[in-house]
Amino acid sequence: MPKKQLPKFSKRKVSMTFLYRKILLNVAFIALSGMSASTYACEGVNEYPNWPAKDWEGGVPNHANAGDQLIYQGLLYQANWYTNSIPASDSSWSLINRCDDNASSTSSSSSYSSSSSSSSSSASANSSSSSHSSNSSSSSSGNTTVTIQENSTGFCGVDGSVDSNNTGYTGDGFANTDNASGKKIIWKINVASAGNYSLEWRYSNGSSNNRTGTITANGSQANVDFSTTGAWFSWTTSGTNVALQAGDNDIILSAATNDGLPNIDFFSVPGYDVSAAECSGSSSSSSSSSSSSSSSTGGFGNVCPAVGPCRILPFGDSITDGYGTPGGYRIELFEIAVEAGKSITFVGEKANGPSTVAGKPFPRNHQGHSGWTIESVAGKTGVITKLPSPALNDDPNIILLHIGTNDLKAMPSGMDQRLERLVDKILVEAPNALLVVASLVPSDKSSYPNSIIIDYNAKIPAMVKKKTDMGYKIIFVDQYNGFSIPTELADGLHPNEAGYARMANKWYSSVEQYLH
Ligand code: GCU
Ligand code: CA
Ligand code: CA
Repeated sequence: MPKKQLPKFSKRKVSMTFLYRKILLNVAFIALSGMSASTYACEGVNEYPNWPAKDWEGGVPNHANAGDQLIYQGLLYQANWYTNSIPASDSSWSLINRCDDNASSTSSSSSYSSSSSSSSSSASANSSSSSHSSNSSSSSSGNTTVTIQENSTGFCGVDGSVDSNNTGYTGDGFANTDNASGKKIIWKINVASAGNYSLEWRYSNGSSNNRTGTITANGSQANVDFSTTGAWFSWTTSGTNVALQAGDNDIILSAATNDGLPNIDFFSVPGYDVSAAECSGSSSSSSSSSSSSSSSTGGFGNVCPAVGPCRILPFGDSITDGYGTPGGYRIELFEIAVEAGKSITFVGEKANGPSTVAGKPFPRNHQGHSGWTIESVAGKTGVITKLPSPALNDDPNIILLHIGTNDLKAMPSGMDQRLERLVDKILVEAPNALLVVASLVPSDKSSYPNSIIIDYNAKIPAMVKKKTDMGYKIIFVDQYNGFSIPTELADGLHPNEAGYARMANKWYSSVEQYLH
């Protein structure tokens, strides 16, 4: 994917010959497209720090209002709301165009807020010889409005189908999710520079309800409303702004209500140096044929490296440390993997356990902290304080998280919310790793009430599912059911060897498909 540097465009430095060639090109372009020169995107727009708006009392212009545009460093920005910050310095601005002679004159004027644009048909709506290419950019230079149609580069999957039974679409049809919460469509785009971008969708919603989507792009999130268009053949646009990182970005639009998403004709992003990226089989489940189940990939694609051992971070408290049996579940987990011919290693700041297991040097690292809680509460330290460093220093591919037992005694109320915050932090800090969140093994010690474990455990699967639906690489593993009390506990709280072995088997089966 192109990762071009932002050219420092300065009109004053342009040579006359260059200018002449540009004029010729523009004349040709205008002649071809029938557009007038007045569509030049930045014409008449103030340049920072010449603010477009004054306070109501009057005085000097000192800010921009929602929708106002401003040029900054050769780029055109639009204010998302009242702002007096430097364009691109925060989320109050969206980058919408480039201010040179190649600037696109997109008819949409790039603003998503025009969501009431005419409901039917652009010129290229689905007449058979539609000129709407499946994945188009309005210019071959850096300034593009990338438009991604169904089943073309950058369209990575729909939880549902690509249909063509309702007219008015462009390209080959539209993406139709199943009508349920969490159903999603995924795209992948590449942007040269980090910043805020407008994301836009052309859609139809023939139901009478507003359908809301949650958009997730590398940890940033926003909601998008897709209000009714009155009929499935009536199309309009809606969108939102999100912060994107330089390089590839997964754009996940997920239904926030049980109605699913509206029908999506295409996804487009106006801006400088934006392009559709290869989906490359990474993130979550796509629509149809997804994994052809080779032994090295699972529902989340390649989690472990092609070469070398898969790096596993055992993360938690004394049960991860292996209290009572140094090495804990890690011993049996390593043994099972070796016997199955899978290559794994453990990473983390700490180390304990035997030196060899199954005839191989045992990787003794882990991130298990005896007595620690989820977050720091009631005078105890939370494992969250180990994020991102040192816990993630070795760039784990898989993170096994079993945490909360010490919260049972320290501060049971709110432990589920604390777990969710910890999970969120891991997902953001280690976006490429597969996070495996366990329910707690049972307790037979009254100061660590098992009834609270049962309550806490019951909340974990839904929390994990919420994250999976948002496109994160996260799964749940049930470490509670099947665990026998008291025979697999050493002291009423920590597993004995049999208990640790049971844990190892559960972990192993949850990640086996990713190991090789
Ligand atoms: C109708 C329509 C579909 C749409 C569905 C929905 O069946 O034809 O295209 O996806 O409603 O409610 O989502
Ligand atoms: Ca649908
Ligand atoms: Ca389409």
